[in-house]
Amino acid sequence: MSYHRVIMTEYGAPDVLALVEEPTIPVPQSGEVRVKMLATSACFTDTLIRRGRYFGVKEKLPFSPGYDLVGQIDAVGEGITHLQVGQQVAALTVTGAYAEYLCIPAEECVPVPDSLDPAEAVSMVLTYATAYQMLHRLAKAQRGQRILVHGASGAVGTALLHLGSLLELEMFGTASAANAETVRQLGAVPIDYCHEDFVTRVTPPGVHAVFDAIGGSNFARSYRCLQHSGTLVAYGTYRSAVGEEKGGFSSYMRLMMRNLVPDGKSAVIYSITALKKQHPDWFREDLSALFQLLKAGRIHPIIARRFKLAEAVDAHRLLEARGIAGKLVLLA
Ligand SMILES: NC(=O)c1ccc[n+]([C@@H]2O[C@H](COP(=O)([O-])OP(=O)(O)OC[C@H]3O[C@@H](n4cnc5c(N)ncnc54)[C@H](OP(=O)(O)O)[C@@H]3O)[C@@H](O)[C@H]2O)c1
Repeated sequence: MSYHRVIMTEYGAPDVLALVEEPTIPVPQSGEVRVKMLATSACFTDTLIRRGRYFGVKEKLPFSPGYDLVGQIDAVGEGITHLQVGQQVAALTVTGAYAEYLCIPAEECVPVPDSLDPAEAVSMVLTYATAYQMLHRLAKAQRGQRILVHGASGAVGTALLHLGSLLELEMFGTASAANAETVRQLGAVPIDYCHEDFVTRVTPPGVHAVFDAIGGSNFARSYRCLQHSGTLVAYGTYRSAVGEEKGGFSSYMRLMMRNLVPDGKSAVIYSITALKKQHPDWFREDLSALFQLLKAGRIHPIIARRFKLAEAVDAHRLLEARGIAGKLVLLA
């Protein structure tokens, strides 16, 4: 049986993505399951992988991108007894999910309640898990605290605001003026990152935590927003990734140097893959908790647009045009 997948044969602009038909679906090896993909994402991190600017991808070209998926198991390899054909699962694949069928290690699969919409469920895997782990595991946010979220109308930003409102946090969010209303509706005070100084908007008294994937010179300004015992969670260098600033990596180094000064504040770096490697149990636990919140109707991910897998190029173009509120999902 043939199947389709989206591959990239070179690094570059969205049109390096191409839909191809493969002659036979892959066969799961021992310890693997084959998943029929139902939903995957087009997210900013995929665009970094597509441009060859993402540290940690070992695949050789050509390969399929696709950082996360929700799908249905349609075959199991030798030795798999805890997962069954027909079961819905989620996985953080990092690459490979832009395919109608793919084989993944069974240990990567996290069960998904059947009743969930695959597009909403897949929003939990990379985007909400990132927000949840930064909020709970790293910043250890407590009810009523003040936080500042950068890129607050983006995929991770809206997830942070949803989860922050469950904790009744007092929230500030930087966004472009066009997305200020989205930020306000999610319970945060919008700050226009093009025309306002977020430092003076939140200090005094400052905030307990800042979530910053903008990087570069933004890190130093975010650090100034912290109150005593506050934490800056750095999780990306968006500005250098889009070519607006140089020195993304060195801005991480400079930020970490700040921890040498005993000023009562701290900075930590979050990477979903690094934390998952260190604490695979946390990832499963946190993703399962998110599925329960979704099932209970306590969170409502913003899906800006749903595309077909075959429209991956259009989804990537839209991502790079910017200004989207929420997440883009690709459906099989
Ligand atoms: N470390 C990890 O494990 C991890 C996990 C997931 C994501 N990430 C990173 O997190 C970042 C966000 O991902 P995402 O999927 O949420 O991307 P996204 O949906 O594209 O959101 C990025 C947001 O940042 C806004 N923005 C751009 N420049 C800004 C500035 N100077 N100040 C404030 N906001 C600004 C954009 O607004 P406009 O569109 O209006 O310009 C957009 O809303 C990316 O860098 C991604 O690589 C890291």
